Amino acid sequence: MVESVVWDIGYLASAALFIIGIKKLSSPRTAPQGNRLGAYGMLLAVLVTMAKMYTEEIIGLELIVAGLAIGIAVGALMATRVEMTGMPELVALFNGFGGGASALVGLSEVLGRLQSGDVPSDGIELYATWIAIGLSGLVGWVTLSGSLMAMGKLKGGFYIPFTSKDERGRSKWINFPTWGPSWLNPVKGFLLLASLYLISLTIQHPENHDYIYALAGTSCLLGVLFVIPIGGADMPVVVSLLNSMSGIAAAFTGFVIQNNVLIIAGSMVGAAGLILTFIMCKAMNRTLGAVLFKSFGGGGRETVTRTKVGSDPEEVAMVCDGITKCVIVPGYGMAVSQAQHAVKEFADMLESDGVEVSYGIHPVAGRMPGHMNVLLAEASVPYEQLIEMEQINSEMSECDVALVIGANDTVNPVARSGEGPLGGMPIIDADKARVVVIIKRSLSVGYAGVDNDLFYEDKTMMLFGDGKKMMNELNAAMKDL
Ligand code: TAP
Repeated sequence: MVESVVWDIGYLASAALFIIGIKKLSSPRTAPQGNRLGAYGMLLAVLVTMAKMYTEEIIGLELIVAGLAIGIAVGALMATRVEMTGMPELVALFNGFGGGASALVGLSEVLGRLQSGDVPSDGIELYATWIAIGLSGLVGWVTLSGSLMAMGKLKGGFYIPFTSKDERGRSKWINFPTWGPSWLNPVKGFLLLASLYLISLTIQHPENHDYIYALAGTSCLLGVLFVIPIGGADMPVVVSLLNSMSGIAAAFTGFVIQNNVLIIAGSMVGAAGLILTFIMCKAMNRTLGAVLFKSFGGGGRETVTRTKVGSDPEEVAMVCDGITKCVIVPGYGMAVSQAQHAVKEFADMLESDGVEVSYGIHPVAGRMPGHMNVLLAEASVPYEQLIEMEQINSEMSECDVALVIGANDTVNPVARSGEGPLGGMPIIDADKARVVVIIKRSLSVGYAGVDNDLFYEDKTMMLFGDGKKMMNELNAAMKDL
């Protein structure tokens, strides 16, 4: 009795830490503190749960220690080894782990109850428990399989071990392209209905666990089929939706095992993920239904046939001499080349000559929400200089030089045409600046696989090469002026 009050107080404290933490995440200045508070909240929740399981003899000390050791080792290894550019895949994988964990806890609860004969015979308890178990399984398995699919797509393919090597001696990767035949939507609808029917069967025959296994099968297939057709530039929407679903699955599991902190934390992740999903939809100018069922970007990757002569850093440095306003538009290539510090050095030089410098931040630039903000904050770029898309676009016609570093889709004017994988997506209007300087290694397409007219415009100067290397050369040329 006393112990149960202690657990409740512990869970309440950890829920309070989550809520204060998420509040602090709403401002870049307080975000690091918010992050820490959330982590402390999670640590507290884990410790209380472990203590509860040990005291109530749910599992033995050896299993608790073994679970903690494996979890800490895997988590520490992943966190220290992941490159900044690999973060989106890691986030997708963690979403999947969250969904999978919830589904497994729900499954073990059913099996445990069946073994101990603790199955409600009828009435509200049977309905409430078995619906919660069914929904935690449905949402959890969909999240697991969908997230693994999303991780593979973000990575650019799936590794196939023990297959023949390619001409450069690398093992084979199989890519799952955007694939959306028209009959896929009815199949998804059928699988969803079948899953709901299986949940109703689990209630009619609670002693039969075969329906729970069948539900796991239909849900996993549903997750894969939901994510396969999503491509073009719409992956950000699906990753944040899967994040939200991992929280919803956890909340359902919280109902199943009557764990308050799981219900609170799961609901918060579910709500926050859903808000982010709608922000992403707005940024892409899509509805959620269109992303999930219309399969944008099914046209594959365009082959670039046009050519453009590159400029050199000295030429660009001369163009930047004497300007009054410069907008820097960062994209995924800045993250790959880790050019943020060199970009800041470039901005500092311009500012010391009295140039007004700001950064145009597209909401889906890079590969995860806030990707550019994180990188630029790491290089100590003042937050006030990071300007959101709508605002920066209203200033673009007064801009002397737009320096686009490693961005492609987010500045591709074809999006305005409303056609193709990028059709309708708002972009940063870099093409409205007097001169556009683009740093990237080649004329190749961006994430959505679409060629970019901006590269070939007369006012565009291409600096071909790795982002950091070219920024350093540009900085050196600026100093030599
Ligand atoms: P992208 O369209 O992905 O283009 C990035 C460009 O960076 C590439 O064209 C590449 O050209 C260049 N690049 C790669 N490595 C480089 C290096 N080392 N140095 C210099 N350049 C390099 O970038 P974006 O404009 O940021 O757009 C983001 C895209 O990703 C959108 O389509 C978005 O929907 C999608 N996406 C976003 C998210 C989130 S949440 N942000 C998640 C998933 C997908 P070269 O190969 O020629 O160098």
